[in-house]
Amino acid sequence: MKTRAFPGGFVWGAATSAFQIEGAADSRGESIWDEFCRRPGAIEDGSDGRRACEHVQRFEHDVALMRELGLGAYRFSVSWPRVLPTGRGQLSEPGLDFYDRLVDRLLAAGITPFVTLYHWDLPLALQREGGWTARSTAEAFVDYARIVAKRLGDRVRHWVTHNEPRVASMVGHHLGRHAPGTQDALGALTTSHHLLLSHGWAVPEIRALVPKAEVGITLDLAPMHAATAASEHQKARRLHDGHFNRWFLDPVFGRGYPRDMLRHFAEREVVPASGLPAVLPGDEDAIAVPIDFLGINYYRRNVVRTESFPEPEDEELWDPSAPLSERTEMGWEVYPEGLWETLVRVHLDYAPSALYVTENGASYSTGPSEDGSVPDVLRLDFLRTHFQQAHRAIEDGVPLRGYFVWSLLDNFEWDRGYTQRFGIVWVDYETQERRLKDSALFYRRVIADNAVPAE
Ligand code: FCB
Repeated sequence: MKTRAFPGGFVWGAATSAFQIEGAADSRGESIWDEFCRRPGAIEDGSDGRRACEHVQRFEHDVALMRELGLGAYRFSVSWPRVLPTGRGQLSEPGLDFYDRLVDRLLAAGITPFVTLYHWDLPLALQREGGWTARSTAEAFVDYARIVAKRLGDRVRHWVTHNEPRVASMVGHHLGRHAPGTQDALGALTTSHHLLLSHGWAVPEIRALVPKAEVGITLDLAPMHAATAASEHQKARRLHDGHFNRWFLDPVFGRGYPRDMLRHFAEREVVPASGLPAVLPGDEDAIAVPIDFLGINYYRRNVVRTESFPEPEDEELWDPSAPLSERTEMGWEVYPEGLWETLVRVHLDYAPSALYVTENGASYSTGPSEDGSVPDVLRLDFLRTHFQQAHRAIEDGVPLRGYFVWSLLDNFEWDRGYTQRFGIVWVDYETQERRLKDSALFYRRVIADNAVPAE
């Protein structure tokens, strides 16, 4: 079979996040997600993260699975309330110990740990003080980052400050579909600023504590396509690109917040004409701290028809003309070329020195068949076609260094609860049995060959 080879040293990994897999909620402080899960109707199946994949109890087995797959790297997140149950002050030694043991286990298995410091599980105690709408939370984040870097930094070189600040701010604070579940357009923008600011402040602190650290941030990016050539659709495309992509990329790469967006928010009376009040002198410089890599989470494109932001119902802008067979069970269109478009665009417009795909994957519920295999052909195809587009981007000069499949395990998919399965490993939530899906077996081959099938 003809294959496309990836560069030597390319990092093949899988990703998870703390709240989605860890369980063991009794042994940590509460986060905004624990509270959000208690809100009637907030989670599709009424579930929560108390048990999840019982990863805290089963991590040794999970690392053995990773080893079986031949993973070169594992991206996981540290739960802030497991380390600092009330967000600041009193440290939990058993909490820190857990990550210590996980890291040791990974290294013993030859797997490079990539640590994400914040994957949305803010300590509830900090939410009571305003959460991310308060500047003090950004300060608390830096203290927390320092504690984790001090403990793990002798063994962990790769650090991601934040996962998808867009989702944490806009989906959590404006659409209200995620914790903390508020609907406040200005609060969402303020949140985005404090998330980015805490990133900018944390990067030098991590570098000071970790020899040869590589520090970056992960953004969820999506190509925006205008529904038609009509000028109103073109205008809408630019606006949504500004809101979704440039609002985060521009400040991280030293351009400050995009002016057209500030103007737009001012026209809608979301922010004053003088700008976002939360942005103080020096903040944009802090956010612009050079990073060692940008992480990109890619799932789909958006096809844009309207420009009525900030109306919440306009968030889901997928192309209604895409046949159902071309969507995953999340309803997200399968559009592999969008990964190439995104990588090339970021490379040309922002030129980060290195890029990782820190998440990419698909929700399909395919379970075990009679012979015990899990024939998730659609996920396998999804991964194959997206790997091919990553390869194409590398050929076009994009400095893509690695690729993390979302997700290692089926897990708690936020407001969708356990209704959506993204894992390459099947999890039976009753028995906690794990089983490699066919996509995992395919991935094992890709990793072993460091190549994808050409067709
Ligand atoms: C991303 C999140 C991740 C997971 C996938 C499906 O937005 O970072 O936790 O939920 O989507």
